[in-house]
Amino acid sequence: MREDDSTRTTADPTWWRDAVIYQVYVRSFADGDGDGTGDLAGVRQHLPYLRDLGVDAIWFTPWYLSPLADGGYDVADYREIDPQFGTLTEAEQLIAEARDLGIRTIVDVVPNHVSAAHRWFQSALDAGPGSPERERFWFHPGKGPGGDEMPTHWVSDFQGTTWTRTTNPDGTPGEWYLHLFTPEQPDLNWNHPDVRREHEDILRFWFDRGAAGIRIDSAALLVKDATLPEVPAHPGPGEHPHVDRDEIHDIYRGWRAVAESYDEPRVLVGEVWLADRARFAQYLRPDEMHTAFNFDFMARPWDAKSLRESVQTTLDAHAPVGAPATWVLSNHDVTRPVTRYGREDSAFAFPTKRFGTPTDLAAGRRRARAAALLSAALPGSLYVYQGDELGLPEVEDLPLDVINDPMHFRSGGVDPGRDGCRVPLPWTRGGSSHGFGPDGGAHPWLPQPAGWGDLSVEAQADDDASMLSLYRRVLALRHGDPAFRGDFAWADVLPGEATSDQVLAFTRDDVLCLVNLGPAVPLPAGYDVLLASADLEQGAAGAELPTDTAAWLRRTPPGHATTTASRCCTRR
Ligand code: NOJ
Repeated sequence: MREDDSTRTTADPTWWRDAVIYQVYVRSFADGDGDGTGDLAGVRQHLPYLRDLGVDAIWFTPWYLSPLADGGYDVADYREIDPQFGTLTEAEQLIAEARDLGIRTIVDVVPNHVSAAHRWFQSALDAGPGSPERERFWFHPGKGPGGDEMPTHWVSDFQGTTWTRTTNPDGTPGEWYLHLFTPEQPDLNWNHPDVRREHEDILRFWFDRGAAGIRIDSAALLVKDATLPEVPAHPGPGEHPHVDRDEIHDIYRGWRAVAESYDEPRVLVGEVWLADRARFAQYLRPDEMHTAFNFDFMARPWDAKSLRESVQTTLDAHAPVGAPATWVLSNHDVTRPVTRYGREDSAFAFPTKRFGTPTDLAAGRRRARAAALLSAALPGSLYVYQGDELGLPEVEDLPLDVINDPMHFRSGGVDPGRDGCRVPLPWTRGGSSHGFGPDGGAHPWLPQPAGWGDLSVEAQADDDASMLSLYRRVLALRHGDPAFRGDFAWADVLPGEATSDQVLAFTRDDVLCLVNLGPAVPLPAGYDVLLASADLEQGAAGAELPTDTAAWLRRTPPGHATTTASRCCTRR
């Protein structure tokens, strides 16, 4: 156990401001019962691993009853765990056991839509047009003769249309219903009081079971313009008919009040994809969400100027509302960093995902290691997506017949989809599923590629140079060294001849973080190396920080000799 775990188990109402939050995609983390699908039993077995990694909280992607049309983001019942994952009792045990190890639990709430299998939607279909049951959704007659045309031409986030036509009990074509994602995910009508009441009750249900917070799915999409206009060519702030409507904030004020009603206030984390930083920050006002994912940073290319701009605009946007930033390198929806940073275009964007994009995995791995030091040194909370601490690459050669993700199908097979970052984790070198499930159990729900065992926890745990060892050191230093709770400032002086387009340099108190994206630069004099993401080089005038390498340095106290080591990952 970490030396000061006691401080983590006591009620600290501001724990979320600088927490390290590990994202568990339940289906792919660990399979306790050997059916090929990850489950809560698997997570419980590996809680000590997460404690030793040094995380403060786990965010669980949806574990509720679901047909899994979109990996669980199609919830049929929020008060039941899907039997593939376990039981409600197990979830309660898991939350309590994690908390005993100093790890809090964040559950995922998906308020924009439910599963088509949800009892509300089923009863709305049964009740027919004009019924109160249909009022909880967006049922609408079609346009044109016979109502054959859909009510709007809104485009789905998963490509394609956003309306599906129902069939009346007598077999004739009926009303249309709105789904911003798949037809299996009908959108809720947030103008309806039942919808609001139900969600506040769901929050209490999980908060009463010990959840420390919620992650809010598609958080900017809930409110729609009820007049159903088309999307303008250039919508101004608040003018989009289904994104970031002004009325949405009232919903989150209500949720914040629920969160604050607990002795240990619960935390709201928003999935808010908005380019407009000022509009984004509105979700983080003191009576709304606590934090929101920093997708701007996550999507930036491996480019010092671009990353610096993202850091600065992030800090500028958060300052007026007093909310901490979050630092995110990936999640279950995007290309793994080791792969993405190994590409010529290392920015992330959904529309540009393609099969067969050339990738230099060695460069990607080196950059992902440096990015770990960069993101962990910035002020705010840090997210780690399961498997990134192992340096797993995106699996890009999944057989087409195992692909599960609707994004792939709705693109007509052009977009590879998101399964490549969801391949079950390797825990051991050998075994039929590399320890994902019991040996001899069912095949993992997505096949693991050759070489997966070399990336396993077992293979990396005692290897000083592994990604896992690096992450453990990064998180231990960040947690244990008070400098990482100190003020942030860009460093005025850059090493050698470097420019700010090559090197990111900033301080947290007396710790200097250097991230070198350009040619090797000399390490500045008068500093000790706390940690580096790769071996340092020996230049004519002393130690140098090579390209695509980050280092954390501490100013040497006056009268002490510096202790610059040339081996990677030094820690003192
Ligand atoms: C965002 C989630 O992260 C993603 O996985 C899901 O498909 C959509 N929201 C729809 O719920």
